[in-house]
Amino acid sequence: MFSLGILTISDKGSRGEREDKSGEVIRELLGALDANVVKYDVVPDEGELISARLVEWADKEGIDLILTTGGTGLSSRDVTPEATLAVLERMAPGFAEAMRAESLKKTTMAMLSRAVAGIRGGSLIINLPGSPRAVRECLEVILPVIPHAIEVLRGEVVECGESEKG
Ligand code: MTE
Repeated sequence: MFSLGILTISDKGSRGEREDKSGEVIRELLGALDANVVKYDVVPDEGELISARLVEWADKEGIDLILTTGGTGLSSRDVTPEATLAVLERMAPGFAEAMRAESLKKTTMAMLSRAVAGIRGGSLIINLPGSPRAVRECLEVILPVIPHAIEVLRGEVVECGESEKG
């Protein structure tokens, strides 16, 4: 069991003009991993708001895994990667690399996501693209690794190779 924060980043969603289907996909898929959703929020595409929420959830709430969805593309309002990078202490580029590499086999559009991932304190923070379909496709790639990643981050794993699968 680990704690999960879901942060949807969407101007329309924050105004209640769009249903947050992507956040629900995260909730559904992470349910299979026994994740406990302790925080859920929808914020507009504003860098300072996004960074502030990530800092609060990592530093004050000590959430194990924070997944963001949306705002990773190329439009001028897409600032999620920059807002995330501003608060990360250590990068974990493999998550975004794997999501893009695997997703590219399904759609060339995958290269348009600028998602990043990394660590702040004891929290693993990973950006996902915004559409429900993209969230599903990307999560399928990283989900098998999440439990082990959290164990390592918590310092619960001594011999990393021991729990390796596949
Ligand atoms: N990744 C996957 N796996 N599937 C997708 O459909 N859509 C892409 C990309 N990544 C997509 C994907 C598209 S069209 C865009 S514009 C970018 O994610 C950024 O999306 P965002 O701005 O909603 O974060």
